[in-house]
Amino acid sequence: MAARTALITGGAGGIGAAVARRLSRAGMFALVAGRDPEKLGTVVGEIVAAGGRAAPVRLDLEDSRSVAGVREAVAAAGQDPDALDALVNVAGIAISAPLFASDISSRLFERHLVVNFHGPRALIESFAPAMGLRGTGRIVNVASSAGLRGYAYTAAYCASKHALIGYVRAAALELAGSGVAISAVCPHFVDSPLTDASVRRIVEKTGRTPEEARAFLASQNPGGRLIACEEVAEVVLTLIEGDENGTILELDGARVLRVEGPVTKPLRKKE
Ligand SMILES: NC(=O)c1ccc[n+]([C@@H]2O[C@H](COP(=O)([O-])OP(=O)(O)OC[C@H]3O[C@@H](n4cnc5c(N)ncnc54)[C@H](OP(=O)(O)O)[C@@H]3O)[C@@H](O)[C@H]2O)c1
Repeated sequence: MAARTALITGGAGGIGAAVARRLSRAGMFALVAGRDPEKLGTVVGEIVAAGGRAAPVRLDLEDSRSVAGVREAVAAAGQDPDALDALVNVAGIAISAPLFASDISSRLFERHLVVNFHGPRALIESFAPAMGLRGTGRIVNVASSAGLRGYAYTAAYCASKHALIGYVRAAALELAGSGVAISAVCPHFVDSPLTDASVRRIVEKTGRTPEEARAFLASQNPGGRLIACEEVAEVVLTLIEGDENGTILELDGARVLRVEGPVTKPLRKKE
């Protein structure tokens, strides 16, 4: 499949920006989606300065009107929402809190489910029907190893990422044979702003130094090191360029592990 236009959420930084840069280097037009126009402008500017093609798309996954208007936002960025070749769901939040304590609220669970599950789900449902009609499309979801197993103090995050993985598993079965492929990438700790925030929380709560906190998180990865955003981006590109549907890959800092899939190979678009 020759993907030409990709929408990448969470594109303003971290893994999402790395995905946008990588897809652009592979020749795709990167629609870089996010909340902060300044950060989006920086990423788009870097891509264009490097000779790529990109445009910003304003999208706030906690604002239902913004999510409902995503097709119009893509059109406003000069791209046909019915002609999107790839959707990469990267945006997400991770706020830790102990269960069974007074400071964990239903609101924390709701926010994680809205941003990490309902947001990606709504975008998939906005673009997959047109991909199906065209007989071609790739949907890649950056979930997490927390979508495959539990981690202490992150129940809301784990629940939302498990929901996303469950959705991918079911959607892959429904999309099988349509030419549209859906998959998920599940990294362990990545060297990104989200992990920087975890480092700050560990420092606050434990009195460890930032270096100790970062080394602790790296030691939790089976590979013993933090994963680079660019490594995740490379795996996303492989899934977009490939034919696999229903594939779930885990990145543990040492290897890319096939958790499951592919379900079936999607049929090629009829030319
Ligand atoms: N870092 C890790 O260790 C790790 C491991 C496994 C999986 N992941 C997953 O990887 C994805 C990217 O995270 P990251 O590591 O690259 O950290 P990050 O830089 O914090 O990326 C999170 C992105 O999500 C965006 N976002 C948050 N809330 C949003 C909302 N309401 N609407 C639209 N965008 C929103 C953020 O935009 P703003 O800039 O506007 O806040 C940011 O661009 C997340 O889904 C995360 O769960 C990360």
